[in-house]
Amino acid sequence: MKIRPTTKADTGPISAMLGALRDAGKRIRPCDPDFVRATYVSNPELVASQVAEDDTGRILGLQVLLLPGPDDPFDVPEGYGNIGTHVAPDAARQGIGRRLFAATLQAARAAALPALDANIAADNDDGLTYYEAMGFRTDRTGEGRIVKRLILS
Ligand SMILES: CC(C)(COP(=O)(O)OP(=O)(O)OC[C@H]1O[C@@H](n2cnc3c(N)ncnc32)[C@H](O)[C@@H]1OP(=O)(O)O)[C@@H](O)C(=O)NCCC(=O)NCCS
Repeated sequence: MKIRPTTKADTGPISAMLGALRDAGKRIRPCDPDFVRATYVSNPELVASQVAEDDTGRILGLQVLLLPGPDDPFDVPEGYGNIGTHVAPDAARQGIGRRLFAATLQAARAAALPALDANIAADNDDGLTYYEAMGFRTDRTGEGRIVKRLILS
C-alpha cells in the first residue's frame, strides 16, 4: 500500500470507494464523479489531496486538505485548513487513516497553515475517535456536528 497525490484518473475509483461508504451507512454527501472531481480532485481550494492505493491499484482511502474562502459554510476561520478523510469500509482499522494523515500533516506544515479543522457528524464515533487519535480536540459543536481542531503553530 502506498500514499500518493490524487490524480484526475482517480476520480472514478474514488467515486466507487465513496459509494461503498454510502452503502455501508457511513456517508451522506454525494459520491458521483462530478462531485468527486469538483471537491476532491480539481478543487482550487485544495492544499493537498492524497490517496491510499493497494498493490493491485485499488483506491482504499482519500484525505483532502482544503483552504476555504471567507464564505465557508462550516465556519472554518480564514487561513485555517479543513480536512476530510475517507477509508473504504473493508479497509478500516488497518492504519490507512493514520498514514494518510502523516502525508497531509506534512503538506499542512509546508503550507504554513496555523490550524486544521475537521467537521464530523456528532454520531460518527469512528470519525470522532480517529481525529482525537490524530491529536484534534473539540472546538465547537452544533446542528448535529462536532468540529475538532488541531493547532499547528
Ligand atoms: C474514520 C476513518 C477515516 C478512520 O480511518 P482508518 O483507516 O480506519 O483509521 P486507522 O486505522 O488509521 O486508525 C487510526 C487511529 O484512529 C482510531 N480509530 C480509528 N477508527 C476507529 C474505530 N472504529 N474505533 C476506535 N478507534 C478508531 C484509533 O485510535 C486508531 O489507532 P489504532 O488502530 O492504533 O488503535 C474511517 O473509519 C472512515 O473513513 N470512516 C467513514 C468516513 C468518516 O467517518 N470520515 C471521518 C469523519 S468526516
